[in-house]
This record gives sequence, structure tokens and C-alpha cells, in this order.
Amino acid sequence: SYLGIDLGTSGLRALLLDESGAPIGAAERHYAADHPHPGWSEQDPADWIAALEAAVAELRESCPEFAGLKGIGVAGHMHGATLLDAGDRVIRPCILWNDTRAHAEAARLDAMEGVRATSGNIVFPGFTAPKLEWVRAHEPDAHARISKVLLPAAYLNLYLTGEHVADMSDSAGTAWLDVGARDWSEALLDAGHMRRAQMPRLVEGCDRAGTLRPDLAAAWGLSGSVAVAGGAGDNAAAACGIGALNEGEGFLSLGTSGVLLAARDGYRPAPETALHSFCHAVPGRWYQMGVMLSAADSLTWLSSITGMGAAELTGALGDEIGAPGRVRFLPYLSGERTPHNDAEIRGSFTGIGAETTRDDLTRAVLEGVAYGLRDSLEALKAAGAEVDRLIAIGGGSRSRYWLRLIATVLDVPLDLPKDGEFGAALGAARLGLVAATGAAPEHVMTAPAIGERIAPVAGLREAHDAGYAAFRRAYPAIREIQ
Ligand code: XUL
Repeated sequence: SYLGIDLGTSGLRALLLDESGAPIGAAERHYAADHPHPGWSEQDPADWIAALEAAVAELRESCPEFAGLKGIGVAGHMHGATLLDAGDRVIRPCILWNDTRAHAEAARLDAMEGVRATSGNIVFPGFTAPKLEWVRAHEPDAHARISKVLLPAAYLNLYLTGEHVADMSDSAGTAWLDVGARDWSEALLDAGHMRRAQMPRLVEGCDRAGTLRPDLAAAWGLSGSVAVAGGAGDNAAAACGIGALNEGEGFLSLGTSGVLLAARDGYRPAPETALHSFCHAVPGRWYQMGVMLSAADSLTWLSSITGMGAAELTGALGDEIGAPGRVRFLPYLSGERTPHNDAEIRGSFTGIGAETTRDDLTRAVLEGVAYGLRDSLEALKAAGAEVDRLIAIGGGSRSRYWLRLIATVLDVPLDLPKDGEFGAALGAARLGLVAATGAAPEHVMTAPAIGERIAPVAGLREAHDAGYAAFRRAYPAIREIQ
């Protein structure tokens, strides 16, 4: 069997596949993030290990196939900085992807000559390099003790194998990697005051990174040798889970954040669009994605202030979408990455009248998120990506109304997988399978069965083009007064 581990922001999911690659069991454990100051977001890596051990214990209990484990792959939330001393002890809590404390450091690195050209990306505040610059300035004693910096998935690789080893897809989000060359960049490391010796060894996500430590294998009741794959950042892993390896294949993830991802055959960075251009988890491929920070989170916010469940709010709108209303919403509750790279901007409602109802606000929130996703689509198209259809995943994809609206605003059909596994945990397990067996990635990373296609609604395209144009004009105006 093969084990996929998805180390997420709110919990860890462990998924077991049988020899044919079909899911046979899963276990989840949750943990929290700490926000000791506004804009900070941290986790104790010990919580990840505890969650992993508990999930594995449950799988051992429920799936006899676990005893025949041959391969493991880890996917992780990206960009987090886990700082280790010379004894591999964690120096301070991991600073997560959604922590924006290092925005000044990010802007400084981003403005340096050659940084965007080599890393292929804007240095966003959430990326790893600016976090280390922040630690250097504010916690110099901690900084001086750093022997290795590991991304969250690579920290689990260390726990599993005893080695410092990271995959290309996750490492691409550090702003220390030459994303075209798939290697650490001396120039980027210099810019961020880091040394190559502090970086993990690099491998491709589907290659064998190491072997499960014999003591851990024994503790888990395993006798054979277990391969551990390089693993992946969670978005690349999700792309492996839905079979998006080639040009023209991609997904829309409507989670807390929104991601529009397109697999690319070649490396075509477009940092000026605020797209992310990262290595894929298989060799010789890259992907590009637009990241919107508050997608389903915008609806969660409306739900929290109205005291109504998200499903209740969207349910009240029925299934039929219409032309955009007068009320407009800018979904920048936590700032925005694509297309604005603006950590300071905040959201807004405009056009509220005495007649405005709660349903109008809900509709405006769903439309604002759809228009924000259109920004990412336009950026992907400008970078030359083909996006003729998208597979829709994530919690927000439960609302028909929202999916129809997004399909219409993007003018792209959305395919909904049948129930089952297709996320980052599946992608991670597939990486473990490829690493253990040497199977060809394109034979393993296949698309899920599609249950339903949501088509753009004919006749509303022009009205939503106009709505989108108004949305585009709103950002600079609101920026001006905030
Ligand atoms: C991607 C990003 C997020 C995290 C969340 O750049 O920051 O999608 O990977 O898990």
C-alpha cells in the first residue's frame, strides 16, 4: 500500500491507497494556528508530528493493508519557515504562508535587481525568504543558531527519513530557488542572507528522497523497506491528485483561499501579473496559479456576522443566477496576492441602498469572489496558459449558484468530480507510489471521474463582463481612500 500525507493549515489528512492506487482508508487530525499579533500566523511543528502519529495509529487499526506499506509522500502547506539548530531542534514556531509580518522585507527583496528574474515570482510577504529576513532583524539570536530551514513538508520528510530533503515544487515558493534551473540560487540566497548549507538537498517530488527510518518502521509495525518521495507543496500535490500535469489541464480550488492553477509544459514566468510560477512535482514540468487570499473565507465572514450558515446564505439565492446587482463587494479581507500583491488593502461593499437585503449582500460577496478569480484567469491567459475547462474542488464548490456564477464570469465550464478522493492527500500518495515503484507519473496521476459539468449561463456573459469591468475600476479607487 501507499500513504499520502496532506499537512494542511488546519489539520493533517493521511490517505492509504492499495496496490492499484485506489483509496482504501483515511484518517484526519486537527490542530490550530496561533495569531499572537495581528498578521502573524504560527504553528508548533510538534503538533504536526502528533497529528501524523495519531492518524497513522488510526490507519493501522482500520486498514490491515497498512502493514504492507511500500511508499509515502508528503504534501504540505507552502512557504512556512521551520528553523532548526545543529541538533535538528526547532528554534521557534513555524511562520506560516498566511503570515504577513514580513511585508516590508518582502518588498525590499522584491525590488532587488535580478530577484524576480531568477525566482520567476514576486517576493510575496507570505514567501519564505522575507520571513528569514524578519527573523534576522527581530530575533538575531534565533537567526544565528539556524543550521537548516525546512518547509513544513520537508520537516515531515526529516521526521520520516532522518534526512534534510525537499522537493522542487515546494522549494519554488521560498524565493531562494532558481525556478527555471530547479536549483538553489546563490544570488537569491545571498540576497536573503542565507547559505546553501542551510538548505535541504533537492529532489523531484516523485523521486525517492529517502527511506523510512528503521526505528519508525518498527514502531509502525512495518517490516519491509518503505520509500519516501520528495513530496510536494499542497497545490502541486492537488494537481497530481486531479491529474493536471499537461498544458490545458488545471483546477479551481474554492477553499479558504482561491486558487486557479494551470499546468505548463515549459517555464514561462510572468511575475508582473502577480501569478505564481512554480516547479511541478514531476520533472520537466511547471505550473502557474493565481492565488486569491479570501475566497470561501469571504462567505465565512458574511456567515459569521449574519449568524447564518454559509449553505443557508447561498441556498436563499436559489439556483438561477442573474445579472450583477448594484451592490458590489471587493473580496480583500486579508489583502490580495493575484493580481495586486497588496497586503494592506481591505475589502469593501459599495452601492448599498435602503432597499438592500441580506441576499443582496450574499450575491455581492459571491460575485466579488468570482470577479477576483477572473483576475487570475486573465493573468493566466496573458501568460499563454490554455484554460478551456477547469476541475472545481474545495468546500465552496458545494454551492451550485456559486459554481454557475463563476463558470459564467470566467466563461469556462467547471467539471465536478464524482464523490471520492482527488485532493492533495491523493496527489501525495501517488508521489509515494511513483517513488516506490518507478511507474510513469502520467500513468498514475490521472483525472477523476467527472460527475457533472457546470456550463457558463448563456445570455449573461455581457452583463458580467460589464460587472467585471466595474470591479477592475473599484480597486484603484478604494486603494486611494484606505
Ligand atoms: C500558495 C499558498 C497556499 C498554501 C495553503 O502559494 O500560499 O495555497 O499552500 O496551503
